[in-house]
Amino acid sequence: MRILLASSEVHPYSKTGGLGDSVGALGKALAQAGHQVVTVTPLHRGIRENFANLRRVDWHFNLPMGPRRVDAQLHALDPAPRHTVYFLDQPEYFDRPGIYNDGHGNYADNAERFIFFSKCIVHLARYLPFKPEVLHVHDWPTGLVPLLARHDRQFLPWPDFPRLCLTIHNLAYQGIFPRPAFGLTNLAPQLFNIETAEFYGQLNCLKAGITAADVIATVSPRYAREITTEEYGAGLDGLLRRRRANLVGILNGVDYEEWNTRNNRFLPAAYDTDDLSGKAICKRALQRRFQLPTEAGVPLFGNVSRLVEQKGVDLLIGALEQLLNVPVAMQFVLLGSGAPHYEIAIRNLAARHPDRVAVQFGYDQALAHQIEAGSDFFLMPSRFEPCGLNQLYSLRYGTIPIVRRTGGLDDTVIDATDQFAQANGIKFQVPEAAALMKAVQKALLLFRDARLLARYRLNGMRADFSWSKAVEALELIYAARTAGTK
Ligand code: ADP
Ligand code: GLC
Repeated sequence: MRILLASSEVHPYSKTGGLGDSVGALGKALAQAGHQVVTVTPLHRGIRENFANLRRVDWHFNLPMGPRRVDAQLHALDPAPRHTVYFLDQPEYFDRPGIYNDGHGNYADNAERFIFFSKCIVHLARYLPFKPEVLHVHDWPTGLVPLLARHDRQFLPWPDFPRLCLTIHNLAYQGIFPRPAFGLTNLAPQLFNIETAEFYGQLNCLKAGITAADVIATVSPRYAREITTEEYGAGLDGLLRRRRANLVGILNGVDYEEWNTRNNRFLPAAYDTDDLSGKAICKRALQRRFQLPTEAGVPLFGNVSRLVEQKGVDLLIGALEQLLNVPVAMQFVLLGSGAPHYEIAIRNLAARHPDRVAVQFGYDQALAHQIEAGSDFFLMPSRFEPCGLNQLYSLRYGTIPIVRRTGGLDDTVIDATDQFAQANGIKFQVPEAAALMKAVQKALLLFRDARLLARYRLNGMRADFSWSKAVEALELIYAARTAGTK
């Protein structure tokens, strides 16, 4: 099949979180499965410098944005057979320090930036000789694409109109903007209504996508169910319930060529299920890097995360505050960036317990791998989690995930109370610090039982979350040209 993927972030070119990982790996996996894939993404700052093979494509955009017109260029790269990545070059919009914000909050013109990106995607889908059979967009930054494409088709015939798929990676981010932003879409004013793009008087990009896509996917089966409830529906649960027949949960895969412990340039030692001794070397190196006592016998807990409410950072801080109050032998390292009040609280914790807690703020790909490998346990107490990739990386790295029973975390981690022999992690239910604390205490006990600990680790390392299953599930929804196609 010919598939066009579009996303505001695509690893290894750009990434703020799992969205980039997911779309980057999906393109690669679809091409490996024999499909023809084109991925479209903005040319963010730094990409040109880091990817020397980028070539200029003879293509020029000049598209309406409300009353004016905006120009852009195109570059391309062929990372693998059957896969081309197109980079939209519009320096005013995308040559910036961050993808969505500059550390002082979101860019004021995000609506304009991603409406323009969405228009360029529709333009490419229509005019590229590639002629995609499937147009698959991801999250709110490309949420307007299905609506824009349908609108476009009404004015000019579009033979072989592609099947429109939208994956929701996170319903908490919907791309909601004041009404004037709708003018930039150049869509007919009557489309600003409650059945399409309007949400309490504002423009809602993700909602527009949910109403106009043929099929809506999200990134785990449990999250697909959760988002149809008021608790997790972020105001869109009613709409999602109405579209339930076209809503599927497909678990993300992991790119094991990148996230592996055998052949990984970021790790100080290699290891696998046959020989875990390299993991102890990774642990020692991590302790040294964070200037913690290099003791093998002290359990090391790790976390790599966007420091936002979703990730249960408050639970983490609350639980650690209490645990560390007594002289318990444990260490905790964190890599993250996000809300300043969380950073302050965590820095505070580290200052009070310098021999047990260490942090690094900012974004650091190598360190993310080193924490996954060097930790004994990985903490992920998310309040909600559409899929979660870090717990999947932990499993492969022989690091035991401690997670809340929600979304993709519940779908992927096995607790002893679920299946004793297969257990590979520890789960807790109630989103409270006390519940997380109990889970950590279970981990402390587990750490003392070498045989059981080894079994958990091996169970995790043997679990298989490769992309092939997701690709098969996607092939079904890509091909379903009848049921649900508008
Ligand atoms: P989310 O997409 O909600 O942030 P996921 O678990 O799906 O959560 O994916 C997070 C991805 O982002 C992982 O690849 C993780 O390693 C990476 N990541 C998050 N924060 C950082 C950071 N500060 N430095 C490096 N990588 C990070
Ligand atoms: C989002 C979600 C995360 C998911 C990722 C990739 O960022 O928060 O749970 O793993 O997208 O789909």
